[in-house]
Amino acid sequence: MSKSILILPGDGIGPEIVKEAVKVLEHLREHHGLAVELSEALVGGAAIDATGRPLPEDTLAQAKAADAILLGAVGGYKWESLDIAIRPEKGLLGLRAELGLFANLRPALLFEELANASTLKPEVVAGLDILIVRELTGGIYFGQPRGVRTLENNERQGYNTLVYSESEIRRIAHVAFQAAQKRNKRLCSVDKANVLECTELWREVVTQVGTEYPDVELSHLYVDNAAMQLVRAPKQFDVMVTTNMFGDILSDLASMLSGSIGMLPSASLDVNNKGMYEPIHGSAPDIAGQNKANPLATILSVAMLLRYSLGEAALADKVEAAVKQVLQQGLRTADICAEGETPVSTVVMGDAVVKALDAIA
Ligand code: IPM
Ligand code: MG
Repeated sequence: MSKSILILPGDGIGPEIVKEAVKVLEHLREHHGLAVELSEALVGGAAIDATGRPLPEDTLAQAKAADAILLGAVGGYKWESLDIAIRPEKGLLGLRAELGLFANLRPALLFEELANASTLKPEVVAGLDILIVRELTGGIYFGQPRGVRTLENNERQGYNTLVYSESEIRRIAHVAFQAAQKRNKRLCSVDKANVLECTELWREVVTQVGTEYPDVELSHLYVDNAAMQLVRAPKQFDVMVTTNMFGDILSDLASMLSGSIGMLPSASLDVNNKGMYEPIHGSAPDIAGQNKANPLATILSVAMLLRYSLGEAALADKVEAAVKQVLQQGLRTADICAEGETPVSTVVMGDAVVKALDAIA
């Protein structure tokens, strides 16, 4: 039976990179037996322009009905002055919340061909393979109350709430422990338990859940130390699990270990492994429409989609191998290009991946 994939290109470089990822999906459908139906809808700034809202009801309904969702990126200068409640980012956050996509998997993997693209020394990052498991539907991103209020002295005060219930911590901990079981069996939980009660509870609950996974070695770090360790000696980590906001920050940091934020895919999963897949980078409005952006993070997100939501592990392997092959061929978009090398365009990179798919057994 054919599976349905909803494509949400979004804003900025979103449409360009998603187009290359769709080429990959279509090629797998035409030539490698993948049974999928693709449809497209609006989200983010593009949806605001067309309907006044970042997450139109029609888009949400289509997202709920689809087997998986592929998203580009949202946001841009054009919408920055809008009220925060209706900005493009709310489209993305609304999808995460409405679809219950609480488990965000962000692998930071260094392709050996790119060891020189990292700003860190090659020996520090060579062989890097970390999985960041970020809680995605709770914490300070969604906590109530929130807002800006005016105090008695007429000064304004902004406030947000960091809140996690035990069940929210428990379910993301299970995801992380199970991911660690399939990898090198080490899990580092990141919190700020020395200052924030909420993450003191986080540490306690993760430790409790850990008793169910005696084969996984659990450690804990405060987030400031974790950031430092990620830059100092990143290869000490296997799986990391953390809150929504800490995960947002640490995953951008980890992306640079792998050479470029343009390389890293992500999966956001619900309890049934239905998921939304997107590159971890943003909409990069400064280079939008210039055919310069790196489509590989989005193409690697297609691989995750095939693996986690469609159960097509062999095709996922094929897409990852194709990406590796184009890197071996020396193709580099501007973000991963060393001095003296000539960058290729978004479209050339996408076409090369499609071509490589057929060369892989
Ligand atoms: C990410 C992004 C989003 C986030 C923004 C665009 C709302 O930075 O997916 O990491 O903060 O979660
Ligand atoms: Mg982010």
